[in-house]
Amino acid sequence: MILIDGKATAATIKAEIKEEVEKIVAQGGKRPHLAAVLVGHDGGSETYVKNKVLACEACGFKSTLLRYEEDITEEELLSCVSRLNLDNDIDGFIVQLPLPKHIDEQKVIEAIDYRKDVDGFHPINVGRVAIGLPAFISATPKGILELLRRYNVETSGKKCVILGRSNIVGKPMSQLMMQKGVDATVTVCHSRSKTLKEECRQADIIIAAIGKPGFVTADMVKPGAAIIDVGTTRVPDASRKSGFRLSGDVDFENVAPLCSYITPVPGGVGPMTICMLMQNTLAAGQKLYY
Ligand code: GUN
Repeated sequence: MILIDGKATAATIKAEIKEEVEKIVAQGGKRPHLAAVLVGHDGGSETYVKNKVLACEACGFKSTLLRYEEDITEEELLSCVSRLNLDNDIDGFIVQLPLPKHIDEQKVIEAIDYRKDVDGFHPINVGRVAIGLPAFISATPKGILELLRRYNVETSGKKCVILGRSNIVGKPMSQLMMQKGVDATVTVCHSRSKTLKEECRQADIIIAAIGKPGFVTADMVKPGAAIIDVGTTRVPDASRKSGFRLSGDVDFENVAPLCSYITPVPGGVGPMTICMLMQNTLAAGQKLYY
C-alpha cells in the first residue's frame, strides 16, 4: 500500500509555482495577484482565507484580503465584485463561501468575471470543463487529478466510482475522470443509489466525497483498488485542543491494508486544494485560458 502524501506534494507544487513566478518577474512580467473576499467571522472561513493568504506568500504572489461584516447587503457585495472585475492589477479573486443567508450565493458567483474566477465556480468555467476546454477547474477535483498523476495511478480504462454528486466535487470529478487522457469508466453514486456497495466492490478507483465518517468499509473495497478520501467531517474529540478532529469518509484502518494507494485524512486531498487555487491564479496571471 502506498500512502499518498498530499502535504508533501502540495509543498513541492508551491515551490514549483514560486520558481515559475520568480522567472516571470525576472523577465519583467507581472507578479500574480489574488484577492479574497471574506464576509462575516465564520471560524472555518477565517482559517481557510488565512491559509490562502499564507499560500500566496509562499508562492511569491501579491494578495489582498477584503473583509466585510455579516450585515453587508447583496448590492454592496455585488459592487465589490464589479470593482474587482475591473481592477487590472487583480488577476483572480475568490468570494469565500458560505455567505450570509440574505445574500444569493449563485448571483454573486455569476457576477464574477469568469476570466478571474480562480475558484472555477462560474457556470462558464463549469461548462468549459465539462466539454474539455481550457478553464479554471475547481480546486478539490483538480487536486485529486494532480495526486493521481503525480503518483502514476493508472486511470486509463479503469473503473472509477465516485461517491457524492456535489457541484464542487462529485460532478466535476466525474467529468474530469472520463475525459480524454484520463480515460476512466465513471460511475457516480449518491444517497439514493441502490447498488452503491456493489459498484464500489468492482471499482479500481474510489473517490469518496459524501461527508459520512468511515462510510467506505473494507467489505466495499476490491483488493488493489486506489482510494481517494475527500471527507473532512469535524467529529468531537475531547483529547484535542481544538475539541475536534477531522474524519474522512473511509474506514482507513481497515481499508488501507487492502489497497494499492490511499489518501489519509488529514494530509491527503485537503492540502492540495489551496495549492490548486494558487495554480489557477498563476494561470490567470498568464492569461493562459482566456
Ligand atoms: N468554502 C469552502 N471551500 C471553498 C472554496 O474552495 N472556495 C470558496 N470561495 N469558498 C469555499
